[in-house]
Amino acid sequence: MYYEINSEWIELSQKLHKEPHFLLKRITPEALALAAAEDRIAVRRKGRGIIACCVLWRVLVATHYRYRYRYEIGTIFVDEPFRGNGLCKQVFLECIEKREGSPLFLITANQNIREMVIKLGWTEELRNWTKVLRWKRIVDPWGKRYPKDSTIKAPGKLFYNDFLP
Ligand SMILES: CC(C)(COP(=O)(O)OP(=O)(O)OC[C@H]1O[C@@H](n2cnc3c(N)ncnc32)[C@H](O)[C@@H]1OP(=O)(O)O)[C@@H](O)C(=O)NCCC(=O)NCCS
Repeated sequence: MYYEINSEWIELSQKLHKEPHFLLKRITPEALALAAAEDRIAVRRKGRGIIACCVLWRVLVATHYRYRYRYEIGTIFVDEPFRGNGLCKQVFLECIEKREGSPLFLITANQNIREMVIKLGWTEELRNWTKVLRWKRIVDPWGKRYPKDSTIKAPGKLFYNDFLP
């Protein structure tokens, strides 16, 4: 697929790399541009820049007898001056529309996001996230356990809005 890595993806990637709670190894201008070309990213723009985004990432999940790709919804971001105006919820809901029927999960340590998805009817995985069966099945790009080169400081919580087989 042809896609253009223009300055808006480079600038967005730079902004996201300043946030402490993202899995940064997958956030590159190339990955963001590809997500746009494949209609897996929701954004809001102001002027010439992106001020909010939410991405569907394809991740490899091991089931009992095979590997499947599933969608993880993540990299939910609103530029600081624009927070608290509902933009996060807008990009999150728009991104969900792009999932084409696939089950979704979310891993977050952010309290606002937790409250938002619970209000939207998502279920929280109650066991410790590193011990959870679903978590152990998420292979790529997280690694089977806590990722070794993780940029994530605080343990997250796993949420899902569909059963992950
Ligand atoms: C998390 C983040 C995206 C929220 O952006 P935002 O624009 O302020 O969020 P919104 O105004 O759309 O609020 C979304 C929901 O979060 C919750 N929320 C927001 N502010 C809240 C607060 N002060 N207290 C409790 N809940 C809050 C609410 O459920 C709200 O939905 P509601 O307005 O229907 O009640 C933003 O702070 C951010 O980019 N943070 C840094 C990156 C990050 O940590 N992302 C999360 C990784 S998963």
